[in-house]
Amino acid sequence: MRLTMVGTGYVGLVSGTCFAEFGIDVTCVDKIEDKITRLKKGEIPIFEPGLEDLVAKQVKAGRLHFTTDLADSVKNADAVFIAVGTPPRESDGHADLKYVHAAAKEIAELAEGYTVVVTKSTVPVGTAREVEAIIAKHKKPDAIIDVCSNPEFLREGAAVNDFMRPDRVVIGTDSDRAAAVLKEVYRPLYINETPMVITTPETSEIIKYAANAFLATKITFINEIANLCEASGANVQHVAKAIGLDGRIGSKFLHAGPGYGGSCFPKDTLALTQTGQLLNAPQTIVEAVVEANKNRQIQMAERVIAACGGSVKGMKIGVLGVAFKPNTDDVRDAPALTIIPLLQEAGAHVIAHDPEAQEEADKHLKNVTWVENPYDVSSDADAVVIVTEWNEYRGLNMAKIADQMKVKRLVDMRNIYKPDLMRELGFHYVSIGRPDVDAQDQTQGGLKKVS
Ligand code: UDX
Repeated sequence: MRLTMVGTGYVGLVSGTCFAEFGIDVTCVDKIEDKITRLKKGEIPIFEPGLEDLVAKQVKAGRLHFTTDLADSVKNADAVFIAVGTPPRESDGHADLKYVHAAAKEIAELAEGYTVVVTKSTVPVGTAREVEAIIAKHKKPDAIIDVCSNPEFLREGAAVNDFMRPDRVVIGTDSDRAAAVLKEVYRPLYINETPMVITTPETSEIIKYAANAFLATKITFINEIANLCEASGANVQHVAKAIGLDGRIGSKFLHAGPGYGGSCFPKDTLALTQTGQLLNAPQTIVEAVVEANKNRQIQMAERVIAACGGSVKGMKIGVLGVAFKPNTDDVRDAPALTIIPLLQEAGAHVIAHDPEAQEEADKHLKNVTWVENPYDVSSDADAVVIVTEWNEYRGLNMAKIADQMKVKRLVDMRNIYKPDLMRELGFHYVSIGRPDVDAQDQTQGGLKKVS
């Protein structure tokens, strides 16, 4: 089995490497020469735990190749995956398919014999049919090409594991022959009894958007419930735990915080609303989610300002975490990129730390003082704000932080510290959806009164 992966971005690189781990001969192709040169040297352009070792292992085993030359690999491939970017168009937020269309045309011109072309990029409903039409127009007369949709559900920071142990594999195709090829590609998972949903391309494309939009909705829902908890003295963590114990709701994605970010949720929710408008099936719930999440990030800056007594003018504010979540250097739509500029506009000087994302964030932010040691954000600070819940922030010596600060104010947007303990250390402590003075402690077994 030979496979070509077009695009060595996040999805292409992780998927291609994991397919090689399945024992398939994989060629990853990218137009950017520098990227391919670096990959050949084992330099991984993204921070993704476990990926570097896996790439090295597969290259050494001779199953994973990198090239800028599409021709050779496509000619010999049983399946060609399109994993190029689909950024939102600036004009209307709709997913821009120009790279997908260009890749489809190039593949069609090169493919020989029977080839399955698979859209792995997140693409709006109807794209597989468009790709089919492009291929029909440009393919060699003798070539037989089937088109499939096979969305990914990889979380950054956990992508390798998500690929190897997925909740399900979705294959959208009208062709039994193409479905058989993809079942073969995913054989190790098939043997593991990973559920396979084999459906039409349209359904497969909608599954991806529906999954992400649902998760984004769940987060936004709990964020609004957190506001209600704050207004009424209730505790959102207890609410989340209790509703999550209902099997119909489930406990995941109920952590209240500063709003979702990342490369998928913001882009996919927006694209879904656009598709809904276009097909006259408005997605009003998701439209509200998009709006609420945008406001959420702004409200987080206002929360810091309120915690500082209504003004941050001339204040020194320490920010812990700028990545949109831990274990990634990705800052796309990260709450920190909204919060920090708003604090600066209000007159604050921001000192920030992130274990991995400083370089990426620095491209989008101005006048931030970066520090290498998380403790340094607190030195002489008027407030410290935890925006990303990196593990290394969970075990900080908070007494030391308190000692270094000019005024002991802590805004914990990820609820990683306990309100009563922070109060004991002298902090004015603000968290999300939890009463300042918390009489309850959440223990492994359930909820327990703390005397
Ligand atoms: C997501 C999907 O999980 C994945 O299946 C899809 O293919 C790509 O998009 P990712 O963007 O990597 O993955 O991160 P994820 O862990 O899902 O978190 C997304 C955002 O939601 C982050 O900003 C995170 O902080 C936030 N989040 C998540 C919450 O605020 N609360 C939660 O309970 C969960």
